[in-house]
Amino acid sequence: MTLDRFQVDASSSLAAAVRSSKPEEAVPVRSSPAASNSRQLESGPAKNFFDAIACRYDRVYALSGRVSRDRTEEALRSIAGKHRVLILGVGSGRELPLVLDAGHDAIGVDLSPAMIALCNRRSRTIPIVETDFWSPLPFDDASFDAALALHGTLAHPPRTTAFSDLARELGRVLRPRGVLVAEVPSATALARMASVPQRVLPEGIRIEMLSRTSFIHHDDALRVSIAGVAYDAEGWRSVLSPIFDVKVEPLGDIEVRIVAINVSPQP
Ligand SMILES: C[S@@+](CC[C@H](N)C(=O)[O-])C[C@H]1O[C@@H](n2cnc3c(N)ncnc32)[C@H](O)[C@@H]1O
Repeated sequence: MTLDRFQVDASSSLAAAVRSSKPEEAVPVRSSPAASNSRQLESGPAKNFFDAIACRYDRVYALSGRVSRDRTEEALRSIAGKHRVLILGVGSGRELPLVLDAGHDAIGVDLSPAMIALCNRRSRTIPIVETDFWSPLPFDDASFDAALALHGTLAHPPRTTAFSDLARELGRVLRPRGVLVAEVPSATALARMASVPQRVLPEGIRIEMLSRTSFIHHDDALRVSIAGVAYDAEGWRSVLSPIFDVKVEPLGDIEVRIVAINVSPQP
């Protein structure tokens, strides 16, 4: 099954279409471009990190239930009226209940089999494609009305061109005026933390500041680390433009919310 079928069969939900598929057809995506495999290796550090921390993601890393609910509701307000939603880095799927309650058809992307396994344990699941979202996305043009990338999912680009490449791909798979909502680390908050080179947090978490805009997140309990980046509002606008018209809103102490409209010329 391809996403084309989903597009023409708007009366059936994506989840229902997938449930009724044969196992080998379970994911409604086009085949991945050849570049994906090499790019997947490029995100090997992210895969290793999230595979390792999956065992304690919901207890140690996920936002509290209330904060998670408030933030997801706010994100959903930005995509109200949209129906086909791509969730980048769906992880353990904490956003899923509200996304599904709002009536959206969602498909997830994640590169960590361990995180995907957590999501698949939920009572209501969605189709999830195991792939690296910094690679060409395995979806047809204009397949989605909106994309979500919540809770720092975009904080670990593997190369300097990663954001512009992702912006181009999202501009392609989102329909014109489709919306991207992303929760990303704030460079302003990191700059405050940069005065303290090591910030030790509970549960063996340690943030090592490398510069105003780059850091390493260490999980000393599990002995894994991952590099991260953040920009200020102007930086986020610049990495996502000219494909997206970007608004940056404050979000808690260390993140900002990006609400970006797809203004790229369609093929
Ligand atoms: C911080 S978690 C967020 C999970 C969930 N969306 C939430 O809000 O709690 C980031 C998720 O993105 C996934 N991820 C990170 N980099 C990725 C990449 N390059 N491609 C696909 N998934 C990625 C991780 O495996 C992880 O599940």
